[in-house]
Amino acid sequence: MRIKLSNRLQAVARYIPVGLRVADIGTDHGYLPVYLAVNDISPQVIASDRGKGPLASAEQLVGLLSLENQVSLRLGDGLSVLAPGEAEVICIAGMGGMAITDILTAGMAQAKAAKRLVLQPQRNVAAVRHFLVDNGFKLVAEDLAEDDGFYYEIIVAEPGEMQLTDLDAEFGPLLLANGHPLLKDFLSLRERDLTRLLDAMADNNSPDSRRRKEQLEQEISRIAKVIAELE
Ligand SMILES: C[S@@+](CC[C@H](N)C(=O)[O-])C[C@H]1O[C@@H](n2cnc3c(N)ncnc32)[C@H](O)[C@@H]1O
Repeated sequence: MRIKLSNRLQAVARYIPVGLRVADIGTDHGYLPVYLAVNDISPQVIASDRGKGPLASAEQLVGLLSLENQVSLRLGDGLSVLAPGEAEVICIAGMGGMAITDILTAGMAQAKAAKRLVLQPQRNVAAVRHFLVDNGFKLVAEDLAEDDGFYYEIIVAEPGEMQLTDLDAEFGPLLLANGHPLLKDFLSLRERDLTRLLDAMADNNSPDSRRRKEQLEQEISRIAKVIAELE
């Protein structure tokens, strides 16, 4: 059976080397583990979720495709479902950046024992990059995927060291260095969204609002500068 992933999950799957044991934390529907199993990318996949409902839908899919020998299901919070070293690649996709850093903090032994982390934070991506570098990981790849007009950032990290400026963390050092083909469109959309937000706040002059407007103006101008450098 052919499993068709969204562009977002396809981009996550692209960074999973063939032949390694993988854990997908917060698997929900289980599409990624099933894709990895069906395509013989991973010999053994752990599909885990803290929600009984999501894990039940993953279980249903695994059963439907008779993949029980290749995909094991685990109910539990974050990396607590893994023994250190059990998963060589840990994927965490489709969650907020803070949820991802909380999971990695609580399961640092398991995260450090993995060869690779493949992360797809929905928000607070800069905080995830800072967290990784501050905790003994280096970014080895970054990617962007687009689905239905929304853009998603994928971060691939391995144990190691690297330097990261605030600007790198904000825009992605490897996305910038490689001039990712979607980067300009992604940043233009972000610039448009922030400009709309700023316009909507035009009449609000409370001290908090003025501070927020100033931050937005600075962010918009940083984005405009990066876009200009990409042109
Ligand atoms: C939006 S879904 C993402 C599903 C899938 N990973 C994807 O990218 O399409 C987030 C899933 O993460 C699970 N989740 C959130 N926090 C978690 C945690 N700390 N440990 C395990 N699962 C978690 C939720 O129950 C939910 O099923």
